[in-house]
Amino acid sequence: MTTPAAVIVDAAAYAQAVEDAVRAAAAYYTGGTSPLDDDAYDRLVRGIADWEAEHPGRILPDSPTGKVAGGAAVGDVPHTVPMLSLDNVFSAEEFTAWTASLARRTGRDATRFSVGPKLDGLAIAARYSGGRLRQLITRGDGTAGEDVSHAIGTIEGLPEKLDEPVTVEIRGEVLMTSAQFEHANEIRTGHGGQPFANPRNAAAGTLRARERVYTVPMTFFGYGLLPLPGTDAALAERMNGMAHSGLMALAADLGVHTSARTAVPDTVAETPDEVLARVKEIAALRAELPFGIDGIVVKADHAADRVAAGSGSRAPRWAIAYKLPAVEKITRLLDVEWNVGRTGVIAPRGVLEPVVIDGSTITYATLHNPADITRRDLRLGDHVMVHRAGDVIPRIEAPVAHLRTGEERPVEFPARCPRCGSDIDTTEERWRCAQGRNCHLVASLAYAAGRDQLDIEGLGTTRVVQLVEKGLVADLADLFTLRRDQLLSLERMGETSTDNLLAAIAGAKQQPLSRVLCALGVRGTGRSMSRRIARHFATMDHVRAADADAMQRVDGIGAEKAPSIVAELAELAPLIDRLAAVGVNMTEPGAIWPADAASEGDDPTAVPTAGGPLDGMTVVVTGAMTGSLEKLSRNEMNELVERAGGRSSSSVSKRTTLVVAGEGAGSKRAKAEQLGVRLATPDEFAAMVAGLLG
Ligand code: IVH
Repeated sequence: MTTPAAVIVDAAAYAQAVEDAVRAAAAYYTGGTSPLDDDAYDRLVRGIADWEAEHPGRILPDSPTGKVAGGAAVGDVPHTVPMLSLDNVFSAEEFTAWTASLARRTGRDATRFSVGPKLDGLAIAARYSGGRLRQLITRGDGTAGEDVSHAIGTIEGLPEKLDEPVTVEIRGEVLMTSAQFEHANEIRTGHGGQPFANPRNAAAGTLRARERVYTVPMTFFGYGLLPLPGTDAALAERMNGMAHSGLMALAADLGVHTSARTAVPDTVAETPDEVLARVKEIAALRAELPFGIDGIVVKADHAADRVAAGSGSRAPRWAIAYKLPAVEKITRLLDVEWNVGRTGVIAPRGVLEPVVIDGSTITYATLHNPADITRRDLRLGDHVMVHRAGDVIPRIEAPVAHLRTGEERPVEFPARCPRCGSDIDTTEERWRCAQGRNCHLVASLAYAAGRDQLDIEGLGTTRVVQLVEKGLVADLADLFTLRRDQLLSLERMGETSTDNLLAAIAGAKQQPLSRVLCALGVRGTGRSMSRRIARHFATMDHVRAADADAMQRVDGIGAEKAPSIVAELAELAPLIDRLAAVGVNMTEPGAIWPADAASEGDDPTAVPTAGGPLDGMTVVVTGAMTGSLEKLSRNEMNELVERAGGRSSSSVSKRTTLVVAGEGAGSKRAKAEQLGVRLATPDEFAAMVAGLLG
């Protein structure tokens, strides 16, 4: 699957595109950070090529088209045989077309192929004489490359001494494995440098760096073996006649690291179909490989086929790169969220400007831990390189630091556990809520005791933490059996606060079913949904007797939610039993269960109504309440609406029947006026529901 070429409209845009591409290619080959990800670069170069095809007389000399390395790299060490690039195919059809053209050139159908991973690093030539590694040269412009012999000794898999004293050139790819990349960035940022955006970039920068006070290891994979001017004539002749697979076996025998020792070794395929099957296998393994690949290289294996096919100026005709979709894109880091896991680990997660990578839209990426954010010097608003391969969770590699505008803001780290509000243990790299596994318990108890649930005054997070840490409560029901002496034993707990808390806990037993349900914290049922369930079923017994079909009859519960609510309530059964046993109310005042209608099967969708003053009305409350309603929270107002037979809603639409507009009401009031929906002041509303105001 190819992405479309960039569209270039005129000569000025063409010149700009050439300049951008040259800058990006230079960064790509020298380890600078490119403002373009690979996809964007490919698109740009294809756009340039399209424009040049239409304006052949106006091609700029700098243009990257038709050049090895986009014309970016230079060097003064001539290659004995040009180091070429590869042409690409992106689909089975394109691959089949290539095999047909290869067959035309070789004059035979049954070409044998060698198929292996296209390693995502940099090409280098390693010259050995008498078995000793003498010189390392980059690909450069393909004709001459740069001497990077200073890197000898830092590249694993490229021995300084071969197992035989031969004079040969080994060609291959230098890259960083994922572990080497992590290590390189740790060292680099430890020395005050900016992290590398990805392993390729890190390998390019590291290979060229001459005077570093530190060294970072890289890995070599050989994929080519050729004679040099000093090679023994018999060996040279033997090599020239060898199949590619044979040359690779020889390289491995000499002690060079090749793909043979990876999960995706080069294999031989007898037919194009076998090649395509192998392409699929390698693609499937890509996400788990400890190094990056960006495609599969398919080569004619027989020496005679290679000679017959020949080479163009940029790429050989006997090999092709079957490109895999890009797994990295540049996007922006919009926010960092902190999520608390089951064990209390507090993990940051990056919120991204949505970006499509390999067909999926990515909005979140893992950030591991706070130290990782610091180490990578990530800031909100940064452009970041995002990596996603297969089903592996997307990750942020690094910021593209030179795209910074100065508007970026530091990432704020939480001072307290975002779930339960306790202290955070920051002694390890992975931050953890001081409550550990109990964090969830603290959070759920504090939530249950909250104003809109059981409304237990005096039972805030600090108190809950004390109770949990002392082992006095292990679930919600334990709250109701707390003894006076137990509470008194807590720090900063005097006689008066103890008595007040005990009274508040006792009072909580009288809360309506809707609030008890809400306190249980069933996923997908907040305050308003809990009220609807409670009003629909009237008692906890009816709620618990409901199967998914019955649950779905509650307004707002769909086919997806119903089974999970039913299942979760079943899980909570022992807790609900204990709550009932300690005297917690399990009924919804004013609600009526239509047992008769249901048992006679009259109307299965029948919803009980209380026949109250707001019967059948949909009511929106907005602004600050005054008068007799002044003390009511928004939740309590909504409860009141529903007790009076109405339906509470938070947004005004044509279906709204009444908007209670308090002080400072703004857009909702305006919308009601615009739609002609009836408005009421808090006092007028209080009069409507007077009978229900206690
Ligand atoms: S063979 C004549 N085999 O991909 C070129 N190249 O995009 C023969 N590459 O320049 C190259 N893995 O740097 C070959 N298994 C592999 C490769 C591979 C990565 C690189 C190589 C080449 C570039 C072309």
